[in-house]
Amino acid sequence: MPNAKPDPSAPSASEIPGSFLAHAETAGAHAHYRDHLRILGARWSQALGETRFDAVRLDAGELDYYFLDDQSPPWRPNPHFAQWVPGVDCAGSSLVVRNDGRATLFFLSAEDYWHQPPALPERIASALDVRVFKSAEALARGLREATGNGRVAQITRHAADDGAELNPEALIARIDWDRAQKTAWEQDCMIAATARAVRGHLAAARAWEHGRSEFDIALDYLEATGHTAAELPYHSIIACNDHAALLHYQHYDRASASPRRTLLIDAGAAALGYAADITRTHVAPDAPDATLFRALRDALDAEQQALMHHIRPGVRYLDLHEAAHRAVARILTEHDVLRCSAETAFARGLTRAFLPHGLGHLLGLQVHDVGGLQADRSGTRVAPPADYPSLRLTRTVEVNQVFTIEPGIYFIPMLLDGLRAGPDGALLNTTLVERLMPFGGIRIEDNVVVTADGVRNLTRSAFADAATSTLQDGRQHG
Ligand code: GLY
Ligand code: MN
Ligand code: MN
Repeated sequence: MPNAKPDPSAPSASEIPGSFLAHAETAGAHAHYRDHLRILGARWSQALGETRFDAVRLDAGELDYYFLDDQSPPWRPNPHFAQWVPGVDCAGSSLVVRNDGRATLFFLSAEDYWHQPPALPERIASALDVRVFKSAEALARGLREATGNGRVAQITRHAADDGAELNPEALIARIDWDRAQKTAWEQDCMIAATARAVRGHLAAARAWEHGRSEFDIALDYLEATGHTAAELPYHSIIACNDHAALLHYQHYDRASASPRRTLLIDAGAAALGYAADITRTHVAPDAPDATLFRALRDALDAEQQALMHHIRPGVRYLDLHEAAHRAVARILTEHDVLRCSAETAFARGLTRAFLPHGLGHLLGLQVHDVGGLQADRSGTRVAPPADYPSLRLTRTVEVNQVFTIEPGIYFIPMLLDGLRAGPDGALLNTTLVERLMPFGGIRIEDNVVVTADGVRNLTRSAFADAATSTLQDGRQHG
C-alpha cells in the first residue's frame, strides 16, 4: 500500500469493476448489448456488400512472445473482434460475419491446467450464435467448413488462411469509419470507464498533495481504479514539475519532487475494453511563481470549457483545433508570455511551440481510435495540415462520435529555443519563460459524446458525480 494511512472514504477496489460488470449482466443492459450487435450486423452487412465479400473472419488474435523468450506482453484482442465480444480474454477465438449480418463466434475453450480457460458471460452466450471448441485444431476445421465457399476476408495480424483475403483496406476503411459513432452500449461502457478513471484521478491528486512520488501516485491510481497496469488502456503519464513538458513522459520517479510544483496526470481506465482518457494538471499552492502558473492553468481550463460550446454536428474538428490555438494565443499574450497581439501570435504560428500536439482524437476500443483521418467510408485520407502534423482527427463532427478535447500549454526547452532563435524571438518574454519552465506544462483533457445540438462531457459529469457522492458520504458520516 503506497499510502501509509488508508483513506476510509476511498471505495474499495473490488467494488469498482464489479458494479459495472454486474450492471452489464442485467436484463436492461443485455437489451442494449443486443441493440449494439444489431447495429454491428447492419454495418458489416453494408460494408461486405459494398466490397463484394460473402463473409469476413475476425480473429481475436494469439499471444505474442518477446524475442527469444517464452514470456508474453499482455494480450490485447483485435479491436474488430472485441467490438462484438467485449471484455472477454479469448485468444485463439474467431468471429465469422456473413454479408447478411449474421455472426457466429468460434469460441476456443481449450482444456488447460497451466491457465484458466476463458468463459463467456451470459450476455454474450445468449445473444450470439456460439460454437465452442476444445482445441485450436478443431476450431480451425470448423472455420474452414463454415467459410469454405465464397469470397472471404480475414482480419488478423497473422497470415490469412488459404483462400481468404488478408485485411482488405476497402472493407476495414468502411468499418473504421462507422466505428467513430458509438452505440448506446459503447457509450455506457465509456461512462463506466470514465467513473473508474475519475476515482483514480482523485486518489492520485490526494497522493500528490501528501508529497508522494510519481511511483507512489501510480500505485494509488491503480488501487483506486481497481486495474492492473496491464488492464489500463494506456501507460499512465504521471509527470511532476518539468516532467510535465514531456508530452508522453514514461517514467515513474521513485523520489518525491522537491519543491513540489506541478502534477500533470494523463491516465485512463477501461470498462469491457472501452477507454477513458483524462488529463488534469494540479499546481502546488506554495511553490514560487505558483500564482502565475495557476493563472495559466485556470485560463486554459476556462478556454477548454468554452471550446465545448463550439462543438456540434457539422463543425470541422480542424476548426476546433484552430480555435484552441487562438485561445492559447489569447492566454499567452494576456499573461505577457508573448509580447504581441493574440492575432499576431496565432497568425505567425507562435502558439505551435507551446502546443505541439493535436486538440484531440477519437476514443473507444483504442485510446487513439481509428478512422480519425478519413474523409469518407471508402478510406480517402485527409492528412492534417502541414502546420499541425500531429493532429489525429480531421473529420467533421457527427452525432455519437466520442473524442477528446485536450488543449495544452507547455514550456518545452527545445521548442522554445527554436522560437527564441527564429525571426519572432524578440516577442518571447524569456525572463518569464525561465520562471515557468520548472512547472513543465499544462494539459486539460475531457472526453465528450456529440449530441444533436452539442456535447455531453463525460469527464466533467463524472467529476461532478464523484464530488456529490463525497459530499453525501461526508453528511452521512459527519
Ligand atoms: N493519453 C494519450 C493522449 O491523451 O492522447
Ligand atoms: Mn490523455
Ligand atoms: Mn488523449
